[in-house]
Amino acid sequence: MDAILVTGGSELNGKIPIAGAKNACLTLMPATLLSEEPLTLTNAPRLSDIKTMTTLLESFGSEVSNMQDGKVLTMSSHNLNNLTAEYDIVRKMRASILVLGPLLAREGRAVVSLPGGCAIGARPVDLHLMAMRALGAEIDLHDGYIHANANKGLKGAIIEFPFVSVGATENALLAASLAKGTTVLKNAAREPEIVDLVRCLIAMGAEIGGEGTSTITIQGVDRLHGATHRVVTDRIELGTYMLAPAFTGGEIECLGGKIELLSSFCEKLDECGIVVEQTENGLKVKRSNSGLKAINVETEPFPGFPTDLQAQMMALLCTATGTSILEEKIFENRFMHAPELGRMGAKIDVNGGVATVKGVDQLKGAPVMATDLRASVSLILAGLAAEGETLINRVYHLDRGYERVEEKLSNCGAKIERVRGQ
Ligand code: UD1
Repeated sequence: MDAILVTGGSELNGKIPIAGAKNACLTLMPATLLSEEPLTLTNAPRLSDIKTMTTLLESFGSEVSNMQDGKVLTMSSHNLNNLTAEYDIVRKMRASILVLGPLLAREGRAVVSLPGGCAIGARPVDLHLMAMRALGAEIDLHDGYIHANANKGLKGAIIEFPFVSVGATENALLAASLAKGTTVLKNAAREPEIVDLVRCLIAMGAEIGGEGTSTITIQGVDRLHGATHRVVTDRIELGTYMLAPAFTGGEIECLGGKIELLSSFCEKLDECGIVVEQTENGLKVKRSNSGLKAINVETEPFPGFPTDLQAQMMALLCTATGTSILEEKIFENRFMHAPELGRMGAKIDVNGGVATVKGVDQLKGAPVMATDLRASVSLILAGLAAEGETLINRVYHLDRGYERVEEKLSNCGAKIERVRGQ
């Protein structure tokens, strides 16, 4: 199994191109199932999760081809000859659940294995199922599979989510685009990836309004046509690399970055002593002369501080002056990186969903274990700032979400290489 070896202490300077968003692309790809005509996505990220979604779509009979080394994906779902999403594919990636809405909407039935994905809490799918039931589907759960039927087609409905779910909002949007009549999604997610999905569906002929607010209205149409759509910038990759010079010193320009993708995060960077400047090509980031200050962070749905940047922020706060408090409000078990950072000398106390981080002067390199996607990258960032060598084992999670991480960081002066792990 691959591992990443990082030798700390080098300043980072240069430009990092930010890829298209994994979480947007994985939502956009299932939209191919809604139409007989081809859907082309440009600015696609080159990641193992995208390959997994490709395999899943191919298992239904979709044809997926890629150009420009995977940056352009063309998907054609003229004939669907299988409506079962098998456990062997779905267990690798939670986003697989997003095929449920489109299959039901187009074919009137679907069988989807209950999903896997990062081990960051219970992560149920009850809200996805609630939305499908509201649209008229009958749902049965047995043998680890969701069996969904809508023989007479889906019908528009008012769906009020009890709390914000990105995935359930996406599944409902995909399904309602081809449902009969009007659907209103209340307490819908407002993430940029939702707005991106709506733009793509509109390009395919869907009639949707209110995206980016918590009430989205979908007027179902009879059919959707082909389209070409550019995947939005990955705000989580962006935020991750924005933090890199805060760990190491130096200045990084994240190409393609925009403050509006990460406004609460940028406010926190400012509080912490990190300077962000919007340039013509992206965002330039450096540490201020006064050093890093402790801050308090609560993760929240967009536009709040993203849960997907909590691990990286925690790693940074390990060496800030003072005591920081991080509250994880989206997932109940998302502090698995804390004990690993502890192996590097961090002083972190976890109590339920709250982590208290007492800043220390310097982290020390150590062998550590990556437990999930964002935890993996937080350990890499910590390793860049630590004294000596950090060996991060089990980095397969990393390849699910970060394209060419060693290349992007070493181009800016980091000492980082992929090695065979223990
Ligand atoms: C979540 C994050 C998203 C992030 C992604 C990957 C939020 C609101 N969502 O999206 O930003 O990119 O993880 O890390 O920040 N839930 C249920 N029942 C459901 C669906 C969800 O109880 O049917 C719960 C989840 O366990 C979680 C919360 O709702 O506590 C938000 O989940 P949701 O937004 O659906 O998760 P993802 O779509 O995976």
